[in-house]
Amino acid sequence: MAINAITVSTYQYYINGEWKESQSGQTIDIMSPYLYEVIGKVQALTKEEVDEIIGFAHTAQKEWAKTSLQERASYLYKWADELVSRQEEIADVIMREVGKSFKDAKNEVVRTADFIRYTIEEALHMHGESMRGDSFPGGSKQKVAIVDRVPLGVVLAISPFNYPVNLAAAKIAPALMAGNAVVFKPATQGSISGTKMIEALDEAGLPKGLVGLVTGKGSVIGDYLVEHKGINMISFTGGTNTGVALAKKAAMIPLVLELGGKDPGIVCEDANLNEAAKQIISGGFSYSGQRCTAIKRVLVHENVADELVALLKAEIEKLSVGSPEDGCTVVPLIDNKSADFVQILVADALGKGAEVVIGNKREHNLIHPTLLDNVTGDMRVAWEEPFGPVLPVIRVSSEEEAIKIANESEYGLQASIFTKDVNKAFSIANKIEAGSVQINGRTERGPDHFPFIGVKNSGIGVQGIRKSIESMTREKVTVLNLA
Ligand code: G3H
Repeated sequence: MAINAITVSTYQYYINGEWKESQSGQTIDIMSPYLYEVIGKVQALTKEEVDEIIGFAHTAQKEWAKTSLQERASYLYKWADELVSRQEEIADVIMREVGKSFKDAKNEVVRTADFIRYTIEEALHMHGESMRGDSFPGGSKQKVAIVDRVPLGVVLAISPFNYPVNLAAAKIAPALMAGNAVVFKPATQGSISGTKMIEALDEAGLPKGLVGLVTGKGSVIGDYLVEHKGINMISFTGGTNTGVALAKKAAMIPLVLELGGKDPGIVCEDANLNEAAKQIISGGFSYSGQRCTAIKRVLVHENVADELVALLKAEIEKLSVGSPEDGCTVVPLIDNKSADFVQILVADALGKGAEVVIGNKREHNLIHPTLLDNVTGDMRVAWEEPFGPVLPVIRVSSEEEAIKIANESEYGLQASIFTKDVNKAFSIANKIEAGSVQINGRTERGPDHFPFIGVKNSGIGVQGIRKSIESMTREKVTVLNLA
């Protein structure tokens, strides 16, 4: 694949089926995390433009809600096809904008098309239910409740930088199939990729105004969007602090929030250590650990800790480190601030007695994969989410201690348990406070039709294709009183 020459394009925003420049006359530079050059500019929208987009969305949604599921499906199938046919072009943009390897970026685009197709098919096969009154004491057979699902209205979809296409479409596709309109606000770093994805959607010929693209400065339009009376539901993926602030502002509308995590990999004494090490390193270091579902701490039984640490080190030595253009697994972090934060966590741990097994080397915003041993509860890295390639190992003396430390976290996204004893695995899984527990596998969101849940500070609500559709509809009951 020939990498396109760097060209600085100015991207427009999308309103009522048209591409436009903002009246603000201002744009935001998007800097590549590894080319260290501006690769494009996006529009900095005004509040008035946000109002217009939301207004058009409301008008379009009323008509869209009347369309048949088959009709909605036909548009979305075209969108999926368009993404597949543009996969190289979009992957190239993802790579340059968020520094993900070209192969992973292409996988993201193809996964997105698969996601859209599965969403269509799921929506086509969902149905309501009916209930008779006589199952309740004193009720009558003559009362029949028809329970249907109806759209919520205008959904605000806010996506993060790390999966700028997949995690955007994972909100937009269910919203549209459910009969909603969408106002899409990508993370600023990721908004060119998001724009390319909307270009593909535009090719599908959706009704004008049904989907609007908002780019701009959080300080100008962030709160404004979230508090806007024209927004009927928010689906947000991003950092916990932003998500908690958003939830306070959004007040009385349904929210689905996918936030941070500190997923533990719990390694029992009887685990297959070779396999556990492979899964933990893949879970911890893919895309430099910039995944909400990355394994972010290892809780290992002290009797096998030395052996596991040696295996983890050997796996880390196999990781490719460098440019996304060379297909590396560990790539520069999204920006310097993120790399600074990782270094602060590592320095804090080292100051308190942790040991570097491998890594702790930095070139600009590229942090080499770092394994820290003998991490203890007084170190920040034991609790905070680095969103970078650093993995702390905490030695424990029992499974009970591992469960206790796992649950002391403010987060509860996922956890992995490594053991050959399935009864033990279930017993630990039952006690872990997390949305999902993986047994003998790395933490990960996919396959995308599985329910995906964050508890505690990891989120609110449930995603996963069917659950996402349900979260963007509400039940409506019509009661027939027969004569
Ligand atoms: O960063 C959060 C993503 O939802 C992680 O997705 O587990 O499929 O990489 P993944």
